[in-house]
Amino acid sequence: MVVEMSNQIPEEVIEEIRKTNDVVDVVGEYVQLKKQGRNFFGLCPFHGEKTPSFSVTQDKQIFHCFGCGKGGNVITFMMEIEGFSFFEALKTLAERSGVDLPISSDNQKSSFSKENQDVLSAYEWLTKLYHHLIKHSKEGRDGYQYFKERGITDETIDTFKLGFAPNVQDFTAKFLEKKGFHKQLLAKAGIVSMWEDQRVVDRFRGRVIFPIRNHLGKTIAFGGRTITEDGPKYLNSSESELFQKGKLLYNFDLAKRHIRQKNEVILFEGYMDVISSYQAGIKNGVATLGTALTEMQARLLKRYVETVIVCYDADDAGVEAAYKAATLLQEIGCDVKVANVKEGLDPDSYIKKYGADDFNNKVIQASETFIGFLMRYKKRDYNLGLEGDRIKYVEQMIKELSIIDSQIEREYYLKELSNEFNLSMSTLENELNQHLKNKKTYKDKGFKDRYTSSRTVKYSQTNQLRPAFHNAERNLIAYMLNNRSITDKVREKIGASFNIDDHKIIATHLYAYYEAGHAEDVSLFIEKLTEEKLKHLVTEIAMIPISDEISEKEINDYLRIINSETNENEKIKLLKEQQKVAEQQNDPQKAAEIALQIIDIQKHSKQLN
Ligand code: CTP
Ligand code: MN
Repeated sequence: MVVEMSNQIPEEVIEEIRKTNDVVDVVGEYVQLKKQGRNFFGLCPFHGEKTPSFSVTQDKQIFHCFGCGKGGNVITFMMEIEGFSFFEALKTLAERSGVDLPISSDNQKSSFSKENQDVLSAYEWLTKLYHHLIKHSKEGRDGYQYFKERGITDETIDTFKLGFAPNVQDFTAKFLEKKGFHKQLLAKAGIVSMWEDQRVVDRFRGRVIFPIRNHLGKTIAFGGRTITEDGPKYLNSSESELFQKGKLLYNFDLAKRHIRQKNEVILFEGYMDVISSYQAGIKNGVATLGTALTEMQARLLKRYVETVIVCYDADDAGVEAAYKAATLLQEIGCDVKVANVKEGLDPDSYIKKYGADDFNNKVIQASETFIGFLMRYKKRDYNLGLEGDRIKYVEQMIKELSIIDSQIEREYYLKELSNEFNLSMSTLENELNQHLKNKKTYKDKGFKDRYTSSRTVKYSQTNQLRPAFHNAERNLIAYMLNNRSITDKVREKIGASFNIDDHKIIATHLYAYYEAGHAEDVSLFIEKLTEEKLKHLVTEIAMIPISDEISEKEINDYLRIINSETNENEKIKLLKEQQKVAEQQNDPQKAAEIALQIIDIQKHSKQLN
């Protein structure tokens, strides 16, 4: 499939797209990567794991997971992680790095159904239309005014493509029907409502529009806010195959870069909170879409960052929701902080009242740890004027503290309890130790902890399971991928006579690859391979740590091991034939002798290995 598609796009263009999209940056937008030595490591996004076995190399421009075997270059990565076709992956990467794709996307295979492509296209049209209206038309003036009054700048209106849907029955429906979209489709996409007599009515009328973008920046739904306080405050597009609230976070596409840079994300409740703080220069904010944080959203965040700052409204509902979100995030292993927005305000109104700096310094930077928040939050459940309640509260807090990994943090809050409730540290410590004994701490909390079980251990273990000739072949191929002259030498000495079939195939491809005049470039070489299995194997082999210099002797050693295995294999093949003949000739004694010979050779080859 890859081959037939790539034929349609000039190779130089594919090359340029590959070169302008560094695999570490692109993967880094999905996975939290840590540099170790020459490579970057992280938790594999393709299978669940707690210790990182996913690695990316910058010089080779490839990724590979030692756990699940997935691997490839930057294009393969986009195909795997987004479920994209080859062309879609190219297109997304081209957009990302500003390369022109000369071919129109219309006749290209898409991973979306025709219907979903149409929905996306309808949303794209409408986003532009509503945005245009709010900025340049009489109909949109009220909407524009509304945002101005809320302190939203023109630049922010552009950044978030905010818009206005005019207060007309079927303005949108007519506009889209003229563009050739079917009513049924628009109804299904949640853009219009259809009555029984097939008449359609716009879903969003007289509302300011917040386009809801997926992580790739494509609008997949709208949130529409009333500007007159009539009707429900917000109206969202109905859920569809493309738009599922629980799987999506508002503004994730724009925030992604900033989240990765800071290794920190701020989780808000509302669109306006995200937008106001973005305008205030705090750009790593996302929001749920009017529903409680789901496990899916929490895991999405976890994949990207260590620290999540929950910054919800300061009203009762907000604090309650913050508790739930923070607990969920803590449970799946995030480092959770809770920002304390004061005076019952929400982040947006706080910024308006006190300004951006104040918000950043006194709310975001001053966020509490999860346990600090919990200690405050749980006080509501007790009447601390009563001795019995005080004791129960302290007991519960100590139980909560026992889950915390950091001894310093535990000690800190123990002191706090000791001061507040006038209890001796030793009493509290004893109590805590009881819990620590009974309870396992969150072992998978925090990247650093997880990181201690080293990937290299895993690697050498799998290495040991292979016979020596197999490893010799792999090592040799690793050198060959890196070095043309070694390849030439191997070719001259053994051609494609590797013992493992896949290695034979790889060697053959590699000879052809260099012959075609290509330089050493694993990522490009992978691009040329059509078989998934081979791509994975080549990336795996390319990840084998090899030295920059290899001696003649080392190569010869590998070749000798490979050769002797080949010879042995040939001998055994011959003997097996003779054995068969002996059996056919009814000569069991001779057959047995041959069998012994075979065993001897096998034993010998094991020793050699
Ligand atoms: N929401 C919704 N439907 C509603 C109310 C709220 O979908 N009727 C969602 C929206 O995504 C909203 C979020 O819940 O952004 C938080 O609600 P709220 O705090 O009431 O809205 P704000 O974003 O603060 O909006 P505003 O400042 O305009 O009141
Ligand atoms: Mn608000």
